[in-house]
Amino acid sequence: MQAAVAMLSGFGLAVVTGGSSGIGKRFLTTIREANPKVRVCNLSREKPGLSDDVVHFPCDLADAAVRGSVFADVAAWAASVDAGRMLLINNAGFGTIGPFPEPKMRQHGEMIAVNIAAMVELTGTLLPELRRRGGAIVNVASTAAFQPMPGMQTYAATKAFVVSWSVALAHELAPAGVQLQALCPGPTRTDFGRRAGFDGHVSSALAHDVDRVVETSFRALRRGRVVAVPGVINGVGAWLARRLPLRLAAVVAERTLRRTGSRGAGAATAAGGKGGADA
Ligand SMILES: NC(=O)c1ccc[n+]([C@@H]2O[C@H](COP(=O)([O-])OP(=O)(O)OC[C@H]3O[C@@H](n4cnc5c(N)ncnc54)[C@H](OP(=O)(O)O)[C@@H]3O)[C@@H](O)[C@H]2O)c1
Repeated sequence: MQAAVAMLSGFGLAVVTGGSSGIGKRFLTTIREANPKVRVCNLSREKPGLSDDVVHFPCDLADAAVRGSVFADVAAWAASVDAGRMLLINNAGFGTIGPFPEPKMRQHGEMIAVNIAAMVELTGTLLPELRRRGGAIVNVASTAAFQPMPGMQTYAATKAFVVSWSVALAHELAPAGVQLQALCPGPTRTDFGRRAGFDGHVSSALAHDVDRVVETSFRALRRGRVVAVPGVINGVGAWLARRLPLRLAAVVAERTLRRTGSRGAGAATAAGGKGGADA
């Protein structure tokens, strides 16, 4: 909390996507607790169920037409907030498990829309306001970004996009006083696994609570880190994965996915077997 308090001093507003549960909800509550003066809004289908101080923009981020109109409303809301720096947290996202194109082709397109298009378009829409005020952008990626993942191929590729895009944007926006972070959690106890089709026992001893993930993000923002990986084990795993040849990294990822156990991963790869992991 100390890092969030220090980081958010001087901030006037925060825009969060996917604040109705999990990591996004924890971001919302942390911001509210760390600096109650910060005006906060959320974009997701469900309401976060927090106080009415959190302005809710209901929207399905997989729908391009909805994104266009809601993002314009969010920009107008942001412009109406008097003063202060701005924090944008592109957190909404989901994954699926199974050999491509399972479980359903449509879900792969929606994953690209929510995990990538929504982040790019919302950031672009809010960029004039971000440049004017200064501030920070957190894009929630995953440790899945660091290697190709048979069984979660589309999800891992969307998160690789998030990391690459964020690091490039960090470079472009530094002179404007806008800080960028690609936050790369490993397995985290949220609804993600259930929604992705894991069988539930992915909440292993190695999985983090959302508090730990959000705390790592604020601490890394304070230190100016562009890529933030919560936890030493995740950090070492990410470091190793980036040093392996891509095809070998994919083999290791596929075996890890099977070893950690889920009903979906048994059929997820050409090698077969049983398994699955959070991402
Ligand atoms: N949990 C993990 O193990 C883990 C690990 C690494 C990275 N991540 C990443 O962390 C981020 C947050 O996930 P989480 O773990 O907190 O999972 P979660 O509890 O399932 O939360 C996902 C959030 O994304 C929103 N969302 C999903 N699809 C949406 C859509 N079509 N339109 C609008 N909002 C949508 C959901 O809101 P509605 O359903 O209300 O729309 C929800 O608020 C994701 O980007 C995920 O990829 C998670």
